[in-house]
Amino acid sequence: MEKVIVFDTTLRDGEQAPGASLTSEQKLEVAYQLQNLGVDVIEAGFPVASPDDFKAISLVAKNIKKNIVCGLARCLEKDIKAAHDSLKKAKHPRIHIFLATSKIHLKYKFKKAEKEILDLAKRSTKLARNYCSDIEFSPEDATRSNRDFLFKVIEAAIAEGARTINIPDTVGYSYPQEIHFLISDILNNVPNINKAVISIHCHDDLGMAVANSLSAVLAGARQVHCTINGIGERAGNASLEELVMAIKTRKDVFGNFKTEVNTKEIFRTSRLVSRLTGFLVSPNKAIVGENAFRHEAGIHQDAILKKRITYEIMNPAEVGIRSQLVLGKHSGRHALLKRLKDLGLKLEEEKINTIFERFKELADKKKEIFDDDLIALAEEETRAEKKACELVSIRIVTGTDIIPEASVKIKYKRKIYQKKSTGDGPVDACYKAIDKITKIKAKLLSYKLEAITKGKDAQGLVRVEIKTKGKTVTGRGASTDILEASTKAYLDAINKIVS
Ligand code: KIV
Ligand code: ZN
Repeated sequence: MEKVIVFDTTLRDGEQAPGASLTSEQKLEVAYQLQNLGVDVIEAGFPVASPDDFKAISLVAKNIKKNIVCGLARCLEKDIKAAHDSLKKAKHPRIHIFLATSKIHLKYKFKKAEKEILDLAKRSTKLARNYCSDIEFSPEDATRSNRDFLFKVIEAAIAEGARTINIPDTVGYSYPQEIHFLISDILNNVPNINKAVISIHCHDDLGMAVANSLSAVLAGARQVHCTINGIGERAGNASLEELVMAIKTRKDVFGNFKTEVNTKEIFRTSRLVSRLTGFLVSPNKAIVGENAFRHEAGIHQDAILKKRITYEIMNPAEVGIRSQLVLGKHSGRHALLKRLKDLGLKLEEEKINTIFERFKELADKKKEIFDDDLIALAEEETRAEKKACELVSIRIVTGTDIIPEASVKIKYKRKIYQKKSTGDGPVDACYKAIDKITKIKAKLLSYKLEAITKGKDAQGLVRVEIKTKGKTVTGRGASTDILEASTKAYLDAINKIVS
């Protein structure tokens, strides 16, 4: 069986998605889970982009020892040096350099001739190779590049020491057959291609990222770039879970290929990334969506009971979906701890008492506590210590025939403040009252409310996206009271800005 190398770029291209920004600690948490998942390469970020990115990559490099840890760099000396510096503590470092090769990029982005680009590719690969033995080179916008020029650049990069040649469909423009021809052409026309692994990096602008990546594998690519839940720039990248499960499930087509991914960790990883980025997974998302394994039609349910394979091509357990154990008012500390552990939630000893208390409070408000309730609860507690502002209480007067008014009391930078405000609605009134206290002028870009679980007593989960001084952040809050959840979500976002 031939191995397909799984190159996960959730922490780089995935994090490039607007509003997805993660702290260094959150990146490390995701990296640990990617290690459990069994990906081969973790692209941890773009070190030169900001001191935060540099710090996050260094942290991942220091702690992750099983996987290759990779840093991205443009073909610029300062980028390559930053990548090298950030990866100093990595056991298996890789520098990934990229340079656009399409006419469109050469003319409008670089204003450079092909010859200059070719020289730059050579010089930069050589420089990177001096720093690190594992170099990946990407001719950006490869799928829209002139073939002969593309072949020359690839050949030069390999000659200077690149071990992996990654072919990006940067703008998600290609379709599967075209990708197949492109990879075959590269194999047939680049004389030294046998010295490198061909990789594929597809974006999902036309919804074909996964199909394109699989097509590349069939044509000869042996590395796939992907992200958890398919998050990434614009419409996102090829989704890891879809790629891996397609290879595993369609043995008739991909029988000669395998990945090292432990598919039982897929669901957990998906939920972790969703929680930390604030990007909800749509219910119909393949593999990890809430409805991906649900059968609604009576005819389907009936047939499934007779023989599962009538309507199910994969077993949910294969991707780590287990039936939810429901806890309630009478569940003890032991049951709670066991469930938190099964859910992969690592909690410090001192947090456990608080979580147990919060669990009991919640169990008084709602009869059944589901996994998603516990995840929301644990997540709020783990973030608690870094909070610059915290909700103390809210009082809201609203109705169909009055102007909503909110009085919000919060602890902000260790002092208690209380302000009142009216608003277009009760949520707006709360947010305006908070703005009066923090004096942060933030624009609310999006507000989403969903029930975490089923039932009328379900907790509401609110996700907001706010922008201030050019920075976009997301915040989440959960409560059985949706106005409290809304206020917590806004404060969560403000906390990110303040920190
Ligand atoms: O989409 C792209 O071209 C990229 C490169 C940096 C590989 O993300
Ligand atoms: Zn990309």
